[in-house]
Amino acid sequence: MSYETILVETQGPVTIIRLNRPQALNALNSQVMRDLIDAFATYDADPEQRCAILTGSEKAFAAGADIKEMQAKGFSEMYGENFFQGFEKVTATRKPWIAAVSGFALGGGCELAMMADIMIAADSARFGQPEIKLGVLPGMGGSQRLTRAVGKSKAMDMCLTGRMMDAAEAERGGLVSKVVPAAELLDEALKMAQAIAGMPPLAAIANKEAVNATFETGLAMGLLFERRLFNGVCATEDKSEGMTAFVEKRPGNWKGR
Ligand code: HXC
Repeated sequence: MSYETILVETQGPVTIIRLNRPQALNALNSQVMRDLIDAFATYDADPEQRCAILTGSEKAFAAGADIKEMQAKGFSEMYGENFFQGFEKVTATRKPWIAAVSGFALGGGCELAMMADIMIAADSARFGQPEIKLGVLPGMGGSQRLTRAVGKSKAMDMCLTGRMMDAAEAERGGLVSKVVPAAELLDEALKMAQAIAGMPPLAAIANKEAVNATFETGLAMGLLFERRLFNGVCATEDKSEGMTAFVEKRPGNWKGR
């Protein structure tokens, strides 16, 4: 499948989606959103694909929502079109995906990266929510996801000053799981993706659902949700296989059921 604004390839069970609007530093416009929705849905529906990576270029993961597209839109257009609400379809992806960030991840670019299950950063990565400088605020989840990731004080600092955070600060703050040399970003992301792709697929989805429940529930309901998922996966063939393989000291052979 070919797209206007992204490149998609597979390497074994890993789908690699690359933002590809170099002339605009991968700024996210409506076409990017449509392309990403389709690419993620295709990944999610393909039983051979077990993990995805979303990345950009060396200079920019994405420098934000496309300011030139938003410039002429007032309240009626934004509200009427429910501008960019379609990105919620990307967050509905059930299977795991990683954002591999090099260069600028600003505004909507940072917000898109934060939709990922795991973020890894090149040492060149720069994160920011500079919307305030445009007279607005994050609109794709930045005020919520950044605060949950790095806490109130740093999130307020980022949103109110519009400053950028480098990769080391992002790692210290818990925004990214690790920082790697820029030249090794894709290799490192692929290693991580292949490790995830080698896990029992239903357990991968269940683990993702359990961690994500943290953001939607109180502790008691979250614990109950986790316990019920745990009980549920005990009915899978892969659970029997996983525990038998451990006892027999051999790798598991997963069936995805
Ligand atoms: C449209 C963009 C863009 C953007 C860069 N470009 N960011 N176009 N929307 N968000 C374009 C520039 O206009 C320019 O095109 C080309 O990309 C290269 O950018 P330069 O500015 O020349 O590069 P550089 O000097 O290296 O500066 C890089 C930068 C800067 C620091 C990242 O481009 C920048 O500040 N960009 C805007 C960042 C931002 O404010 N993001 C938040 C957007 S609001 P031309 O044709 O002029 O050469 C947002 C809201 C999300 O994301 C919520 C939506 C619901």
